[in-house]
Amino acid sequence: MNTYEKRALEALINKKAVDEDIGVILKSFSGELMEELRKEAFRVCESVYGDEVYLRGLIEISSYCSRNCIYCGLRTGIEKAERYRLSEEDIMSSVHYGNSLGLKTFVLQGGEDPMLTDIILENIIGKIKEEYPDSRITLSLGVRSYSSLKRLKEAGADRYLLRHETADEELFSRLHRDGQSLSSRKECLYNLKDLGYTVGTGFLVGAPWSSVDSYLKDIGFMRELKPHMAGIGPFLPHRDTPVGDFSPGSLELTLKLISILRILFPEILLPSTTALNTLDPRGRVLGILHGANVVMPNISPKDARVKYSLYNNKMKDSGEASQYIEKLKKDLEHYGRVPVTDRGDPKNMGVNYGGI
Ligand code: 5AD
Ligand code: SF4
Repeated sequence: MNTYEKRALEALINKKAVDEDIGVILKSFSGELMEELRKEAFRVCESVYGDEVYLRGLIEISSYCSRNCIYCGLRTGIEKAERYRLSEEDIMSSVHYGNSLGLKTFVLQGGEDPMLTDIILENIIGKIKEEYPDSRITLSLGVRSYSSLKRLKEAGADRYLLRHETADEELFSRLHRDGQSLSSRKECLYNLKDLGYTVGTGFLVGAPWSSVDSYLKDIGFMRELKPHMAGIGPFLPHRDTPVGDFSPGSLELTLKLISILRILFPEILLPSTTALNTLDPRGRVLGILHGANVVMPNISPKDARVKYSLYNNKMKDSGEASQYIEKLKKDLEHYGRVPVTDRGDPKNMGVNYGGI
């Protein structure tokens, strides 16, 4: 580690990092820096969340999407993609399965599917809450109007995940050529906060045409928004998209960004994502060793999982959730971390981040 790198790392640890310091860390190839950064992120995570890693049950409720994000295997432009939408019964049976594993958070994720109307979602949310009043429901269904989000909140939804994908305006328009705007994603995220949701944003790492500058903008936006959760994962090419020939995002860069986010936002809930695990079979555990504290086993019906193909090779990650949790327990034991089925609320509801 050279003097610049040392100084940048110290600034980050002392909560004094400016963009230039974070830039130095992101550009560094030093193994020593990477390890110091990891250790600090792991320590910060432990000081806030102890030894617990929260488990969430992920249910992919629809693979229909009216959007055309250039990188995504669910984009509307892929006409040959086989699509599905889970019935209420299918969703409830996934919830029952999750409950049998002790899971208390159910994440309903899907594309921006016009058939997922407020009424349909209100009914499903109501059913889950009626059967499991102590559960938490997270929605991840893209940009929706204020009035829709209000209705879903009133029906019992607790949390919402909506990645901003990139806070770099120019990059956002290269990746989204279908009229989506960064400002409407941001507005939706602020609406979610206003409505009292526990809010998660996030971004892609190594998306085509991205740069260190893009990540500085992502971090800048997160400092403004102060989300409770952030999901970041490497870009993975999907062969039927216009960017199918680009290289995937890097494992090291994703891990570095996880550590940086943990240090900057100590109380944030940070999942170790499926994409990270698809990139590297040890990805999930590496994410946790670098400061992540949430894992989302997939509890969707098996035949649906095949079709929920955001990127290629995702199936590698799709074993039974029960076996998956057992394996994770074993893998983490060695590092003093325990996956728990606690509701796992963030420790930063209504709290300001120190110094940010
Ligand atoms: N590689 C990695 N992540 C992707 N997503 C969509 N397509 C890809 C891809 N090719 C992510 C987006 C989206 C989430 C549901 O999946 O960040 O927010
Ligand atoms: Fe639809 Fe989300 Fe994929 Fe964009 S990233 S095409 S909004 S599922």
